Amino acid sequence: FGLGAGAGTGVTMGTQRLLPERADPVEAARRAALAPVTGDGVHQPGIAERAPAHLVFTAYDLTAADPAAARAALGTVLRAWTDGGRTLMRGASQSGASQSGASQSGAVQIGVAGVGREAAGLGSAGLTVTVGIGAAALRRAGLDARLPGPLADIPALPGDRLEATRGGGDLAVQVCAEDPMVAFAAARQLGRLAADLVRPRWVQRGFRRTAAAAADPTATPRNLMGQLDGTNNPRPGSAQFDLAVWAAGGPAWMRGGTYLVCRRIRMLLESWERLTEDARGEVVGRRIDDGAPLSAPPAATGGGEDTASDFAARGPDGRLLIAENAHIRLSNPQFHGGIAMFRRGYSYDDGLDATGEPDSGLFFLAFQADPRTAFVPVQRTLAASDALNTFIRHTASALFAVPPAPPAGGYLGQSLLE
Ligand code: HEM
Repeated sequence: FGLGAGAGTGVTMGTQRLLPERADPVEAARRAALAPVTGDGVHQPGIAERAPAHLVFTAYDLTAADPAAARAALGTVLRAWTDGGRTLMRGASQSGASQSGASQSGAVQIGVAGVGREAAGLGSAGLTVTVGIGAAALRRAGLDARLPGPLADIPALPGDRLEATRGGGDLAVQVCAEDPMVAFAAARQLGRLAADLVRPRWVQRGFRRTAAAAADPTATPRNLMGQLDGTNNPRPGSAQFDLAVWAAGGPAWMRGGTYLVCRRIRMLLESWERLTEDARGEVVGRRIDDGAPLSAPPAATGGGEDTASDFAARGPDGRLLIAENAHIRLSNPQFHGGIAMFRRGYSYDDGLDATGEPDSGLFFLAFQADPRTAFVPVQRTLAASDALNTFIRHTASALFAVPPAPPAGGYLGQSLLE
């Protein structure tokens, strides 16, 4: 490896190093994927950073019997998860740790079945903990008057086949890590910290490419349909990302926060896999092999994943190259008032259903400043005519407010409760 350009000039995005101090960017990206994430002090981690390979997403309900108790419990749980999450992300395990929950928040030991983290050989693995608050929590705590507009319930949408037990929730904890053992242990520990005050409602595990296995950990990953998924996402750190993701208006407690839409979308892989590769490309509007839009020139003459989509382009037969019902046409921000969202979903594989079909698909996670002007209208359009609809089924839905980073010495969502 040469010591050329880039030597000694690491570049950071959020809090993770994406480019190397040494000259091999791929190796540096792999190392970065395992480094501790501390957050930027403004936003919660687990949003703008590269998504690690493993996800454990848990939704909880508060168990309090009345609004006053729910309000107190909310504060206790948010404080426990703030302190616990911070400790876990540092990669530390503290001796003399609490086993008894939120009352001793901050004392966190993670490991496997009681074994401390170092003893269990568990490093940081790029762990992130992201906490969300559902509208149901505010209602339960008698805080209806403080509900932010963007947290309005996602309306029933055509084609929905939602299972209530897999959706909704008062609170959410998104745990991501490059190592599944670290993700499991952290999610488990956070659950135990709040066990006296919440009950788990649903859990969704997910996975993406590991940095260690990917030829280039920064490249767009594929989903279970084999498509490159995430190409035309706003780039973290760009003005478009900031506008699309961070809440600028609304209540003070959510300024600098974001809203997370979760949709468990099953893929009907048996029928998808019967399509030819060309037909698969037409459904989305991008080539399967390199992810280039169908309006792009062939790879040999420079077309590729980053070529801009030309939605007016027609082939020699006069037909639109990106079909009327192609997924990327119907979802492209230019047809939705320029409003984008940041998709950071995970593949899931939950075994077989009762008929022996695979229950696999996409756990769609999208961060946005306001779902009323982003997810909802886009999904309404997709539900009406997306060519993908034949091959997918939305089976669960949830929406959470993701507050900004806590104030120094304070806790997530603190100003909601003051
Ligand atoms: C783009 C797949 C669901 C919104 C894409 C792309 C693929 C894809 C392959 C093109 C590459 C890219 O830009 O990322 C899927 C699959 C889904 C799904 C397999 C379900 C299983 C959704 C949903 C929404 C959505 C529910 C929002 C309601 C978008 C947007 C783009 C996109 C905004 C970018 C379009 C552009 O500007 O080019 N999706 N998607 N997708 N998808 Fe999806």
